[in-house]
Amino acid sequence: MTDEATYLGKVIRVDSGSVEVEVSDEIPSAAPIINGRLYKIGQIGTFVKLPIGNFTLFGIVSSVSNAPSKVEETQARYNFGSRFLTIQLVGEKIGDDPFEKGVGTYPTINDEVHLVIESDLRQIYGDRDAGSIEIGKHSSSEDLSVYVDLHKLVLRHCAILGSTGSGKSNTTVSVLKAILNDYAGSRVVLVDPHGEYSSAFPDANVLKINDKKNPLYIPFWLMTFEELAYFLVGATLKDEQTPQYRKFREMIVERKQKNHDKLKGGTVDVNLVTGDSPIPFNVRELWHHLYWWLNASFKEASSEKQTEANACVEGKGDFEKLVPPTFKAYAMGSIAPFKSKHQDMYAYEKKLISRLRDSRYDFLFNPGEYKDEKSKLDLHDLLNSWIGGEKQLTILDLNGVPPEVLDITVGLITRFIYDSMFWGRNESYTGKNRPILLAYEEAHSYLSKSETNRYSKYAVEQVFKEGRKFGVGAMVISQRPSEISETILAQVGTYVALRLTNAGDQGIVKSSAPDNLISLIDLLPSLRTGEAIIVGEAIKIPSRVRIKLNNPRPTSDDPKLIAGWSKKHVLKADNYKKVVTAIREQKI
Ligand SMILES: Nc1ncnc2c1ncn2[C@@H]1O[C@H](COP(=O)(O)OP(=O)(O)OP(=O)(O)O)[C@@H](O)[C@H]1O
Ligand SMILES: [Mg+2]
Repeated sequence: MTDEATYLGKVIRVDSGSVEVEVSDEIPSAAPIINGRLYKIGQIGTFVKLPIGNFTLFGIVSSVSNAPSKVEETQARYNFGSRFLTIQLVGEKIGDDPFEKGVGTYPTINDEVHLVIESDLRQIYGDRDAGSIEIGKHSSSEDLSVYVDLHKLVLRHCAILGSTGSGKSNTTVSVLKAILNDYAGSRVVLVDPHGEYSSAFPDANVLKINDKKNPLYIPFWLMTFEELAYFLVGATLKDEQTPQYRKFREMIVERKQKNHDKLKGGTVDVNLVTGDSPIPFNVRELWHHLYWWLNASFKEASSEKQTEANACVEGKGDFEKLVPPTFKAYAMGSIAPFKSKHQDMYAYEKKLISRLRDSRYDFLFNPGEYKDEKSKLDLHDLLNSWIGGEKQLTILDLNGVPPEVLDITVGLITRFIYDSMFWGRNESYTGKNRPILLAYEEAHSYLSKSETNRYSKYAVEQVFKEGRKFGVGAMVISQRPSEISETILAQVGTYVALRLTNAGDQGIVKSSAPDNLISLIDLLPSLRTGEAIIVGEAIKIPSRVRIKLNNPRPTSDDPKLIAGWSKKHVLKADNYKKVVTAIREQKI
């Protein structure tokens, strides 16, 4: 036996990916101290090395047993006091060359196996490469930094996954801070449904729906025609052949075309304007128009002769204030005024007015200076406020936004940023020349497999499928990865997996890990808070990493159960008036 302190044992079996090792009986301790550090023998997930002449193979311990795996054949030889380790080979190092993933040479029976100590780990992880960020420290060594390749992390997309309380938000802060601090021109948009990140990033550009100081506006006219039809009047492609649907399309195209030369961002060719073009128009005027034709009374009875000139108008109304026009009451029978024959848009008008009156949608239909063609600001200002300004990080605080609204919001924001990167792909300050990272916290709640979040899902799926080419990278953060759209997960290049207890969720990470490292994934339920297994394209070798606890931290606004339940409350019905009004107005 070698008397090196790192000696563990020798190889007793080799197959294509794994090696079995019999731990030597002569090792004095199960936890030797080498260079002042304590190493534990046979810890699952730790590295071992097999020096073979000029090169060294590295492997990860995947199982430990007191009997060899092929017991029947070998029973006679072993007294079962021995320990046996199964090692998955992960990479090799030839001479002074850097560590490489994968193995070209296999060990043979009786080759020596050694513990990997800190200096070996340094050889595996190497020095910091240009274009990387530090993600944390190696779990088995407090001062060994683990770096990830930033280009691959961002543009091949990544996911931060873990059960609730496992440390996802803290990890997100760590990753984003490393990016923002190390790369002065980086830009990140973080979708924050619980409004927990602004405390961790005091310098960020925080935009919030319905906020007085820093409002997040998303003008409704960013929607395509199909989205407008669905969102404004509840019509889907199934209705495409109906006269109402066609008429509605004509009304919208006409309004968008009319404004082609009034745009603050620059005139566009009227012939290129379609129902899908993001061009402002006045949606209240559209409602007024629908209302007018449905409710007007006319001097003439026949539908062809019921024209504007023949209408019996009493009051014009005020579309900005949603005050309808008034008309002379129509008479019964065959005397004027006659009831309007234009009744086909009845259902559309009713749906549209209820949307416009719903104050939850003010950020869409009342978007400050982006309201319509007369407004001061246009899309270039909007883009600048989201991704253009000096601040590298924009937090979109969507706290308190109902799920239906969350869907359209995330969908429109994602698509508009994506479009700006696609069409600006060759500009020096955006597109391919200055990529962007879009981070989605609580992704399972609006990027689920179901159709309940069609807007956001389709937009984000497009980013995951095509974004890389135009400089758009994405990160999803979730506690329920098994609920997330498969199209999205299939495109995730790097997983940062924290403690995950649900088997279905673990399966998501497992399916992306190389076969010989499944044992590492099996550690997921037992990881400590803030500890992660990182696998995928951005990391040299799948690793167990400790993420630093950040300060200031993200805050999660938990209800105050103990405080609220500790004192007695004596309430009267009147106390609830405010709540009831808020339910009715959908407004706090
Ligand atoms: N790296 C870490 N080291 C030590 N403690 C940590 C670490 N990360 C998180 N914690 C602790 O765990 C708590 C939960 O962390 P965090 O909010 O990041 O979890 P989460 O996975 O985002 O949870 P949720 O699913 O509720 O959003 C933190 O308040 C902190 O106390
Ligand atoms: Mg969290």
